[in-house]
Amino acid sequence: MFYLRLLITQLFLVFIIFDTSVIGGKTKLVTYTVTLSANEKTDICCDAELQVNSIQDGRCPIKVLCVWAGQAKVDLLLSNKEDSSAIELIIGAQPKSNAVIAVGSKSYNVTLVNVTPYPGTNNNPLEAIIQVICA
Ligand SMILES: *[C@@H]1O[C@H](CO)[C@@H](O)[C@H](O)[C@H]1NC(C)=O
Repeated sequence: MFYLRLLITQLFLVFIIFDTSVIGGKTKLVTYTVTLSANEKTDICCDAELQVNSIQDGRCPIKVLCVWAGQAKVDLLLSNKEDSSAIELIIGAQPKSNAVIAVGSKSYNVTLVNVTPYPGTNNNPLEAIIQVICA
C-alpha cells in the first residue's frame, strides 16, 4: 500500500512537471535535447528524424593564441514523412546556432547548444548537443 501511494505521488509529480510545458496556456511545446556524433540519427518529436551528417570544429584550442576564435559547424538533416531539409548550424565566432526549419507542413525550432569536447580538452569523439522544440 505504501508503494502504491508512493507511485501515485510520483505520477502526480511527473504530471505537474509535464504540465509546466504549457506556455501561455495555449501551445504545448515539447523539447528534445539530443547528443549525436557524425552519421548518427535519432527520432524526435514523434514524427521526425534528426541526423548529424558532419561536425567540423575549428574553434581555437584552449591555451593556444589564435587570430580568431573560430567556429564549430554541424550539418544536419531533418526528415519526416513528407520531406527532408538540410541545414548548417554554427557556434563560436559569427554564430548561427538557431533556425526554425520547415519540413513539409511542419516546422521545428532547432538549436545547436554545444559541440564537445572543446578543442584541446580531451580526445573524445566530437558530439553535437542539439535542442529541438517540436511545433
Ligand atoms: C526557438 O527556440 C529558442 C530557444 O531555444 C527561442 O529563443 C526562439 O525564440 C525560438 N524561435 C521561434 C521562432 O520560436
